[in-house]
Amino acid sequence: MTEASFQFLREFLKARSGLNLAADKRYLVESRLAPLVRSFAFASLDALVTLLHADATPGLAQSVLDAMATHETSFFRDGVPFESFRTIVLPRLLAARRETRRLRVWSAAASTGQEAYSLAMVLAGVEPALTDWHVEIVATDMSAAALAKGQAGTYSQFEVQRGLPIKSLLRHFTQVGEEWTVDADLRAAIQWRVANLLGDLRWLGRFDVVFCRNILIYLDQAAKAELLAKISDALAPDGALCLGSTEFMAGCPFAPDAQAPGFHQPIRSVPIPGAPNPAIERLQAVG
Ligand SMILES: C[S@@+](CC[C@H](N)C(=O)[O-])C[C@H]1O[C@@H](n2cnc3c(N)ncnc32)[C@H](O)[C@@H]1O
Repeated sequence: MTEASFQFLREFLKARSGLNLAADKRYLVESRLAPLVRSFAFASLDALVTLLHADATPGLAQSVLDAMATHETSFFRDGVPFESFRTIVLPRLLAARRETRRLRVWSAAASTGQEAYSLAMVLAGVEPALTDWHVEIVATDMSAAALAKGQAGTYSQFEVQRGLPIKSLLRHFTQVGEEWTVDADLRAAIQWRVANLLGDLRWLGRFDVVFCRNILIYLDQAAKAELLAKISDALAPDGALCLGSTEFMAGCPFAPDAQAPGFHQPIRSVPIPGAPNPAIERLQAVG
């Protein structure tokens, strides 16, 4: 691949998905795009880039984004956040929302769905407490292919062995040959939506809990800050954000939640003593 093709791809990936690819990652691009060169029957990677530039080959841009994204995920990945969700965040929200009985949870950058199903399994575990509640789990990703796998809910033996307790496997999955399929009630609990986190996210509505994990690490500082600001707008003032263990960014509109390891709370609504309080100023303005 020529240097010009590599630079074009770096800019394309950053603009379309936020992926901040270091200048020494040429081998990564070559190895991840080689299968695409074959499947689209291009003569070379440079030929692929020429057609990507022309933007006239249906499906090519999305295939390049999908091939370059890391879709790595697993059930109950990293353990701790799901334990915090079950034991601290959820009881807190169940108490705070007892009047409205509504709860919305967002798995942003959901990949193939294991995170969303893990959240659904936690919620199913407290089911008696959620009777008559309106609970929504929304799973989004920029990759329609990853979401389609999640929506189908069929996983290999290897995938279910990664993080899923045997009790949960037997309770929520049915074995079909060598694979396991999530039972219909759990699948029905999740809405799957294609959404690019670089774009406008307001159409997704307001959430009580956001899991946005293992995506900020691929973005540069400016894109990270922008995404965290959008999540802050999407989150209820007493809501909770779960990030990957190394993804917190100082100066963002969240503060680590001392009670719930892995979680962060919005800080925009906490008045700073002595600082102008926009809520009070608004009240004064209307008389
Ligand atoms: C490493 S997976 C994370 C999966 C899950 N959150 C977890 O922690 O296990 C990252 C996912 O982010 C998605 N992604 C990357 N850039 C994105 C963007 N700009 N908008 C939405 N999804 C994006 C990829 O398609 C991929 O499925």
